[in-house]
Amino acid sequence: SVPPATPQYRPAYHFTPAAHWMNDPNGMVYYQGTYHLFFQYFPGGMTWGPMHWGHATTTDLVSWQEQPIALYSDSLGYIFSGSAVIDAHNTAGFGPNAMVAIFTHHNPKAEKAGLTTFENQSLAYSLDAGKTWTKYAGNPVLKNSGIKDFRDPKVSWNAAAKKWVMTLATLDHITFYSSPNLKDWTKESEFGQKLGAHGGVWECPDLFPLMLGGQTYYVLIVNVNPGGPNGGSATQYFVGNFDGHAFTPLNEQTKWADFGPDEYAGVTWDNTSTRRLFLGWMSNWEYANQAPTSPWRSATTVPRELALQRIGAEIYLASQPAKEVSKLFPKPTTLGAFNVGNTYDLSAKLKNTGDKYELKLTTRQLASFSLVVSNSKGEELMIGYDKAANNYFIDRRKAGLTNFSPMFAGRHTAPRLATVPAADMRLLFDATSVEVFADHGLTVMTELFFPTAPLTKLTLKATDGLTLQELTYSKVTVATK
Ligand code: FRU
Repeated sequence: SVPPATPQYRPAYHFTPAAHWMNDPNGMVYYQGTYHLFFQYFPGGMTWGPMHWGHATTTDLVSWQEQPIALYSDSLGYIFSGSAVIDAHNTAGFGPNAMVAIFTHHNPKAEKAGLTTFENQSLAYSLDAGKTWTKYAGNPVLKNSGIKDFRDPKVSWNAAAKKWVMTLATLDHITFYSSPNLKDWTKESEFGQKLGAHGGVWECPDLFPLMLGGQTYYVLIVNVNPGGPNGGSATQYFVGNFDGHAFTPLNEQTKWADFGPDEYAGVTWDNTSTRRLFLGWMSNWEYANQAPTSPWRSATTVPRELALQRIGAEIYLASQPAKEVSKLFPKPTTLGAFNVGNTYDLSAKLKNTGDKYELKLTTRQLASFSLVVSNSKGEELMIGYDKAANNYFIDRRKAGLTNFSPMFAGRHTAPRLATVPAADMRLLFDATSVEVFADHGLTVMTELFFPTAPLTKLTLKATDGLTLQELTYSKVTVATK
């Protein structure tokens, strides 16, 4: 039975399927002006079930059109996560510029029968820009030799090595494969059994180059579930080099692309030239199946643009909303420099605050503060910075519904990685989510909350004096679905 509808929880500018269950983003690929997003989808209910690839498209990265289901479960199994490429040179022979999906076939019958080979990699292709799909008759193309968790292939063309490279999550490490034609795969190397976070199984990896100071580095993303910095599922990454055969990290530090509890399975778009655009599933496996929305479950994050940034001896990945996201906020109200004092009633200064907006703060000298986002029912979400601990935090313990899961209520923290005294924070609110990009995206936190009335009152609190250089508020402009 479907619980009563919750239109008040439908985000305005984050993708949600009209109905039913969604988890990981899949097969993100750019082709002829359109960004494709496929996603783990169960069209038969609002909880995880036999997986399909749902499909959505956007040309501007902010308005999404849901498309018909792209891939249905078949006799080889459920269609688990994977990637998509444009085969410009027709290496696979499916046709020039075929859109080729490389995904995991997860066979539930084989799993029940106790076999360890129930996950294998398969292909499907589309010759009409993702509208209709044909599964390759020779599936699976990469067979499992007995690793129970053997999934989520992320394939891209490696121009230097002139071959396709597949990054595959294999239980507690990554295995790299290569292929001239997407059909025949050769094992190249393994990475990570003794490195990184291992609180749970490794899933949904990604490997891509990024430049810094004229030099190319490779970023290896590895999602892990559980074992995230604030519990449950989260996205870690490594910075290093990749020579077409093996990945070598610069050092052994575990790093997180997003410290909040509610970004998972994030990976990047293929075929976007030098831009590197990332998008994640905005939930956590600890409670995703219980989240109090209906008739859909889960949204994606906003598309984020990735860049490398050096802080001291370390190189970090910084994520900021893709520049297109700014188009959602064309009419900002700006407050010039002011002292926050103990309590500053922001709502009194900003007219018509809703629950879908952008807020930007800058300061020359960061001090402890909290932004309290509340309603007249006494529900409040607190977001801020704690100078003694040098961390950012989000506290949703009193932000509304929490009892659908013992893992939901909590105060979550993220280290401040920037070392300069000046700070900036950009917050994107969309009914039930906030994405916090601090210090130009060096520290990111994504968090869900479910108030019983919109949280429209904004108050700033600071205990040891905070002067904001500038504060900008802007309501979203898109029509709410
Ligand atoms: C990650 C994941 C993937 C798998 C998919 C199944 O969230 O567990 O490893 O392919 O979800 O829906």
